[in-house]
Amino acid sequence: MKTVLVTGGNGGIGSAICRDMAENGYSVVAAYYSDEKEQARAWQRSLQEQGVDVEIVGGDVTDYESAKGMVDEAVMKVGPIDVLVNCAGITRDATFRKMVPDQWNEVINTNLDSVYNVTHQVINGMLERGFGRIINIASVNGQKGQFGQTNYSAAKAGLHGFTMALAQETARKGITVNTVSPGYISTPMTQAMPVEVLDAIVGSVPVGRMGEPEEIAHTVLWLASEKSAYVTGANIPINGGLFMAA
Ligand code: CAA
Repeated sequence: MKTVLVTGGNGGIGSAICRDMAENGYSVVAAYYSDEKEQARAWQRSLQEQGVDVEIVGGDVTDYESAKGMVDEAVMKVGPIDVLVNCAGITRDATFRKMVPDQWNEVINTNLDSVYNVTHQVINGMLERGFGRIINIASVNGQKGQFGQTNYSAAKAGLHGFTMALAQETARKGITVNTVSPGYISTPMTQAMPVEVLDAIVGSVPVGRMGEPEEIAHTVLWLASEKSAYVTGANIPINGGLFMAA
């Protein structure tokens, strides 16, 4: 049975990824932010009640040592990690002139530094075993920029730079590294937006609605497959047509 570790696994998109992968035969570990232990346990229990088994590990992805402890614990629970989904992310929206250092740093640390901290723990094992899938969850706003999100857009664009570089370093070793860039998806993150701003953006989406977390999970499952071995360094947009690029 292949194993998958999903950071931000109990979040809006992460949760759908965990469920989909568990239902499709993966041994799943969801990594949650250590301050949210009770919520993560409740989430795990509710999945169990629906017949979906997922392990959970706590940690702080902004901290290298904590990320190491988290991955070690995940490996103890399910074995070496075959698929890593870097899904932990936050927003601290503000126009740039009003953005305070904490808003900048928290977003860069959580959304970008985390990817170094966590991926670095699994890469050697994947290289030794000659198989790995690294899937980085970025955003349409890393591709097109977004008013009020200089921090988030920079982190998410940086994420895809990381993807392309690591994809080249690992391409001959059975490892693929890809980015998935969701648009506006129905999750607590978008529910926290000012409703008039969200309505205006969704009104401009060609498909005419928000995306569902399951629509992201579907692509993650496909990328994780052994059959997707020739897809690497790609940035897969799932945004209802909000941003189209050649
Ligand atoms: N384009 C141009 N001008 C805009 C604008 C836009 N999109 N939105 C606001 N403005 C203008 C206003 O009309 C106003 O102009 P005046 O000063 O001339 O009146 C000015 O900008 C307001 O600037 P402020 O700095 O005062 O902005 P604010 O404090 O009112 O709010 C904000 C700014 C907090 C960023 C708010 O616009 C906001 O929350 N926007 C949402 C940003 C967003 O899309 N976040 C996505 C979250 S979900 C996510 O990130 C998931 C994902 O991956 C997609």
